[in-house]
Amino acid sequence: MPKLLSCELEDLSVASDSLKTGGLVSFPTETVYGLGANAYSDKAVLRIYMLKNRPPVNPLIAHYKSADEALFTDVIPNKTAIALAERFWPGPMTLVLNKKPSSRISRFATAELKTLAVRVPDNAVCHSLLDLLTFPLVAPSANKSTTLSTTTAEAVFENFSDYEGDLSIIDGGKCKVGIESTIIDVSDEENISVLRYGVLTKEEIETVCEIRERKDLATKKPVAPGMMFKHYAPCHPIKIGAVECNQDDAYLDFGGAHKDLEKIAKSYLDLSPSGNLCEAASNLFQMLRVLDKSDCSRIVVAPIANNGVGLAINDKLRRAAGLIG
Ligand code: TXA
Ligand code: MG
Repeated sequence: MPKLLSCELEDLSVASDSLKTGGLVSFPTETVYGLGANAYSDKAVLRIYMLKNRPPVNPLIAHYKSADEALFTDVIPNKTAIALAERFWPGPMTLVLNKKPSSRISRFATAELKTLAVRVPDNAVCHSLLDLLTFPLVAPSANKSTTLSTTTAEAVFENFSDYEGDLSIIDGGKCKVGIESTIIDVSDEENISVLRYGVLTKEEIETVCEIRERKDLATKKPVAPGMMFKHYAPCHPIKIGAVECNQDDAYLDFGGAHKDLEKIAKSYLDLSPSGNLCEAASNLFQMLRVLDKSDCSRIVVAPIANNGVGLAINDKLRRAAGLIG
């Protein structure tokens, strides 16, 4: 069974000792909980793939405590990466850059690619943990592959409760942002592309650099390798963009637009009664998890505005509904 730790310094040093000897530690970030391992240890990294049941061709993000470390330790930075880092780190942004030939990052973490995804999270507990370490942490979202990402320590525990290996879970409360980081591929400054959207939007990125997707990719949108796999699937079937439901359904509303369904549906939650997309993102995985546990036959989700952060929310919902990936 995983060990549950608090975010007090004493417990964080238990977590760091475990990481130093190849153990796994789930830690909070501002986006979602990560399942962390020493990025330089093949053995520790392979444990992540086994525990998550993650396809080996799906690379991991390396987490650092500062922009300087993230940009100058294992990757080759460029002007755009430095400008994006200055503007958005620490924060929910991941940059894909060319890996330094001298990097000690495990080849399993990069799925043998020449690039590495790096990020500096904006979470005090995560920083206190990284401060105790002399290596970066690779960390995918702390959920079994194909299932909902986790935004609380309890949800992480539920995912891995039957694991017998060395796994600790640091309880740092609910993640503020609630959906994963925006991934920008800046490895070729002439062809910058966004591989996955989070709360950092296209408009915000374009205040720093032009997003120029390669012409030969014009018809095929570039995606992170991981986005090709099934994602975020709850146990129950999910129907999205729906304005009605029946009495066996659980209804997930947005902005109170269909509050009348509270009387009809078996259970009812609202991602953001005030219609705030950032609040909706922060509640998305947790509310889907709660409704998935309820005794319903389907989860039915209200239409969500498809602009700004709504683009990322709708992408996740379409994946959860099995319409992409
Ligand atoms: O917010 C986040 O990014 C969270 C927290 C824990 O930091 N992490 C996260 O990791 O979402 P994960 O493994 O669930 O998703 C990482 C995505 C995958 O789709 C993977 O394919 C992509 O990043 N990725 C990793 N390295 C890459 C690379 N070198 N090139 C392109 N995509 C990469
Ligand atoms: Mg994930």
